[in-house]
Amino acid sequence: MSVQALHLRPAWAALKKHHQKVRRVQLRQLFAKDRERGTRLAIEAAGIYLDYSKNRITDETLGLLVQLAQESGLRDRIDAMFRGDKINTSEQRAVLHVALRAPRGASIIHDGQNVVPEVHAVLDRMATFAERVRSGAWQGHTGKRIRNVINIGIGGSDLGPVMAYEALKHYSERAMTFRFVSNVDGTDFAEAVQALDPAETLFIVSSKTFTTLETMTNAHTARDWLLSGLNNEPSATAKHFVAVSTNAEKVAEFGIDTANMFGFWDWVGGRYSMDSAIGLSTMLAIGPDNFRAMLEGFHEVDEHFRTAPFERNLPVLMGLLAIWYNNFFGAQTIAVLPYEQYLKRFPAYLQQLTMESNGKHVTLDGRPVNYDTGPVYWGEPGTNGQHSFYQLIHQGTRLIPCDFIAFARTLNPLGRHHDMLLANVFAQTEALAFGKTAKQVEAEGTPEWLVPHRLFEGNRPSNTILLDELTPAALGKLVALYEHSVFTQGAIWQIDSFDQWGVELGKALAQRIIPELEDVAEPKLEHDSSTNALIRRYRKMKGGT
Ligand code: F6P
Repeated sequence: MSVQALHLRPAWAALKKHHQKVRRVQLRQLFAKDRERGTRLAIEAAGIYLDYSKNRITDETLGLLVQLAQESGLRDRIDAMFRGDKINTSEQRAVLHVALRAPRGASIIHDGQNVVPEVHAVLDRMATFAERVRSGAWQGHTGKRIRNVINIGIGGSDLGPVMAYEALKHYSERAMTFRFVSNVDGTDFAEAVQALDPAETLFIVSSKTFTTLETMTNAHTARDWLLSGLNNEPSATAKHFVAVSTNAEKVAEFGIDTANMFGFWDWVGGRYSMDSAIGLSTMLAIGPDNFRAMLEGFHEVDEHFRTAPFERNLPVLMGLLAIWYNNFFGAQTIAVLPYEQYLKRFPAYLQQLTMESNGKHVTLDGRPVNYDTGPVYWGEPGTNGQHSFYQLIHQGTRLIPCDFIAFARTLNPLGRHHDMLLANVFAQTEALAFGKTAKQVEAEGTPEWLVPHRLFEGNRPSNTILLDELTPAALGKLVALYEHSVFTQGAIWQIDSFDQWGVELGKALAQRIIPELEDVAEPKLEHDSSTNALIRRYRKMKGGT
């Protein structure tokens, strides 16, 4: 189905008009008019409760947003993804991360072949390997058991593994140490191996391409570190290095036996890969059964996304609300605020997922967009954020829609902590939505001059996402929720959410500059005057002259 340019879709024009009508409407009024709003504008599906009632929307807004999704061909795009069509058009690739969590026995066809058996074959190999390492059956070069696992990767080959490890630490093997190296800044590696015994350390080199500068630099440094700790016996690498990649040739070239390589496929984007073999460190930490439970959580939300009508579809609604604020209210950002300490890396993970996916300036057919695309996602766990940036959300001049994420049960019940934590979630969304009027402030006996400082306008929108408990399945559900919200937004903007050409220029320029920094002889510089001067200054400063 061909989709009209965004501004030509009837729902788009209707939403523009509708926005003019409702933009000043207060959440206070909306709640006063409809006593059921708080339960009516809430959905429970796949074990996730989404309260979206504290958004600046009416039933008409929702109807128009759903109409926009329909006119944007969202249903066809979803079907095309699950069918294995090459919807990543600029790279001519299918987008099948949903196959990574399809149950054994399911069928998802790519290039005429069912990929699900391959997916499970890799999962089974990962499970066997993970069991061997966790039980001590896999021994290091000197016969010691592996106690430390270091994942070397960057972007999607790092953020998912770190986030999942932190999120699921409660389920992890505490007798083992897990660390993650991503930055080409040598400090990252130096700190990661602090106090570790090479004889007990396993490196997982995770890189889809196995060519990424940061990862390959760190992998070489890791090999040097390992060998220098193990009498420089080259054969030692075999027991201390495994690879996760799609590039067997490069893995072999690096010196890792491809028998110790766990593969995935070009239809898995880096930022959509934490549930592929890229999750090997996660599986080593939490064990194969928990990893499989996580995949089941992903799959439950995939099925919900694929089948639920748009008006009852959690990721679709979240995506549509993001569009509403981004394109009609001009909001530039979305804050993600997990009230769960274990999710401390979740906002960082979402930044790659959302911004590498939807930070695009042309449509699928290469025409410049004349509307804003991907908003900036950011956030920190509550309640810490409340004592830092929430001031701006409550009383600043910008509109910042927020996603509050919370769990009904804590994994660490300690006295009254959890009730206090959840009280803060509910208090914040209430304060943001309803604020405090001048009258209320005055009634508290506040002197007149102080009233403007102490009043809260309210009308700040938020979603509240509530789940039972942070289990591996719950984590899978949350990640899939955001993956498909990103998909929904990309489908409406008609952009390619699965390429990332924007990272290429910087990479290429860095390759050109590296020798200019390292050459002993003064290089001939042909950059702009600023870059030339910075390179010269750095050369001088590092030389200490
Ligand atoms: O940042 C660009 C990018 O290609 C990401 O999309 C990807 O997750 C990351 O680099 C790492 O790539 P690789 O897994 O190939 O090392």
